[in-house]
Amino acid sequence: MITRKLFVTTALPYANAPFHLGHIMEYIQADIWVRHQRMAGHEVHFVCADDAHGAPIMIAAEKAGITPQEFVAQIAAGRKQYLDGFHIEFNNWHSTDGPENHALSQDIYRKLKAAGFITSKTIEQFYDPVKNMFLPDRYIKGECPKCGAKDQYGDSCEVCSAVYAPTEVKNPYSVLTGATPIMKSSEHFFFKLSDQKCVDFLRTWALQDKRLQSEVANKCKEWLEGEGGLGDWDISRDAPYFGIEIPDQPGKYFYVWLDAPVGYLASLKNYFGKIGQDFDAFMQDPSTEQIHFIGKDITYFHTLFWPAMLKFSGYKTPDNVYAHGFVTVSGEKMSKSRGTGISPLRYLDIGMNPEWLRYYFAAKLNAKVEDLDMNPEDFVARVNSDLIGKYINIASRASGFISKRFDGVVNTAWATSDDPFITKLRNASAEIQALYEAREFGKALRAVMEQADIINAYVDANKPWELAKQAENDAKLQEVCSRLLEAFRILTIFLKPVLPHLASQVEAQFNIPAMNWSDVDTPLPHLHKIKPYVHLMQRVDGSIFDQLFDAPAPQNAPVESDTQQIEELAPEIKIDDFAKIDLRIAKIVHCEHVEGSDKLLRLTLDVGEGKTRNVFSGIKSAYQPEQLIGKFTVMVANLAPRKMKFGMSEGMVLAASAANEKSNPGLYILEAWPGAEPGMRVR
Ligand code: MSP
Ligand code: ZN
Repeated sequence: MITRKLFVTTALPYANAPFHLGHIMEYIQADIWVRHQRMAGHEVHFVCADDAHGAPIMIAAEKAGITPQEFVAQIAAGRKQYLDGFHIEFNNWHSTDGPENHALSQDIYRKLKAAGFITSKTIEQFYDPVKNMFLPDRYIKGECPKCGAKDQYGDSCEVCSAVYAPTEVKNPYSVLTGATPIMKSSEHFFFKLSDQKCVDFLRTWALQDKRLQSEVANKCKEWLEGEGGLGDWDISRDAPYFGIEIPDQPGKYFYVWLDAPVGYLASLKNYFGKIGQDFDAFMQDPSTEQIHFIGKDITYFHTLFWPAMLKFSGYKTPDNVYAHGFVTVSGEKMSKSRGTGISPLRYLDIGMNPEWLRYYFAAKLNAKVEDLDMNPEDFVARVNSDLIGKYINIASRASGFISKRFDGVVNTAWATSDDPFITKLRNASAEIQALYEAREFGKALRAVMEQADIINAYVDANKPWELAKQAENDAKLQEVCSRLLEAFRILTIFLKPVLPHLASQVEAQFNIPAMNWSDVDTPLPHLHKIKPYVHLMQRVDGSIFDQLFDAPAPQNAPVESDTQQIEELAPEIKIDDFAKIDLRIAKIVHCEHVEGSDKLLRLTLDVGEGKTRNVFSGIKSAYQPEQLIGKFTVMVANLAPRKMKFGMSEGMVLAASAANEKSNPGLYILEAWPGAEPGMRVR
């Protein structure tokens, strides 16, 4: 056998939030593939890292009042519990802010420059005169130049899907300060993707070499051969920026997407430093295979920029980029505000078995770029009827007799290559391995379950519980149960890439060393003694999903219907009195915590005035800022501005609360019906 040398990565997650289910799915997909390779005896180095740089992380750290390095370290410290919890076995986890990445990114840049692939150009960009920084497109909002919709991002409109330059936006404002941005020029550095050498290389790499999934290759074809072809890529950003300095260009940093993929190499280098392996020799070895698992949203970076950067700086180019689709929950995009966010930690906390999820994802994964829906009924059905009903049951039906009647001793004298029962099972191995190799995990599990069906038919035909009734059948009973345990052992190998923890429990119970693909053909030794059976895996109780789904709104005590409990009415007023209060529909365009206050949230409201208002509201106990962003509410718009400890408050939003806090401690902000627009008067 030729031993492959594999360098495998998953996308580097932004270090601004904990993992969500989509991340976990990606890691499980890659982890299954990697475990399959390790079981085949190949040399695999499976690494990842936090993607630390960029403006959003810099800004988030500033808001939290800590350095970006501290911010990233806090996020990084939380990673292990997820990875361990779901049995995801990276060889290394690093950071793109590590010294290896600084050195490698600068080296790649220098080599690209020396080869003539870097140009510079002075460009005009929006600049926030209050914050004194250039604004990334996502930090500019305004009216869509096509349809006029308000509060659209600086690069695209969510209402009419138009795509445009931030300079085309009408009445633009800075999301950071609300200030009107000004145009300012600055020198930027570009990677010459439009260079003919680059275009020729990418045509071969992406289109001709058959290394990409057909959907991905088709996209690349559009990008490469579409109108105008590839434009040069802006790889620099001006200070202040959390990133890596561009050599000899003070105040200029690499755009985060330049150094992020270099982080793959940096993590490998960091790992090789720890285990004493030669990084340069490994990367220069022509037999090394470099493979990236990614989500469909970042293929552009991985199939154009990244291979071109590597190629023209003289590094090894990727062998494969495997893109997957997005996880949806019950058919919907994952969204916390709609109550469909599933927290992977919560999954573990409430005692759900991580291998159920691994099995479920695997059963739904294929080699295509298809979205993958997480659906509770489907989850319960697959885990209970296949995993438990077909596979685990084989062990539970046979082990008891072996332990109780035969002192744990198995008989495998029959398990020779001319035994049809075992031969059929062993022969399934090649196909199953090929399906893992091709990332057709759903098909692989179906092939395993077909074998499990055959074994279960054998159980029904031989009825060990009947044999057990008469002592003269003992020899037959021991052989039937031994066959079942040997079959179970082989099925366990087939499932081991997906269920590594369960496989190690089986190995412990069977008193055997860790199994690999080559062990399919080596039966349990004749007269080998196994340990007493301990139940391996529970069924899923479907009601646990109620605990898993995030509660859509804060949980409050039940509301008492007793009318005596409501607050006494205020003195009567005339309609003219009411007319003095100017209530307006306000869109919450931004919302954040107020440092140093345990009651207040800071709201940025659009009341249709062409500028936003800053309002402090004492609703922190009831809402997370993310829940409120994008909502339409009602505000008192003509209230005199009030200077507070944390700044000016320019109005007040309305919220309901009970007179008796004990009966219902909640606060309920008002929400307008769809169709209401910012600035409309409420009368
Ligand atoms: N930091 C960049 C990647 C840099 S790689 C050099 C990034 N980070 S991310 O945190 O937004 O996404 C990390 C990975 O998770 C990506 O592969 C992305 O496609 C994947 N997913 C994000 N949301 C997802 C789902 N809902 N479902 C499945 N995967 C998803 O992009
Ligand atoms: Zn629009």
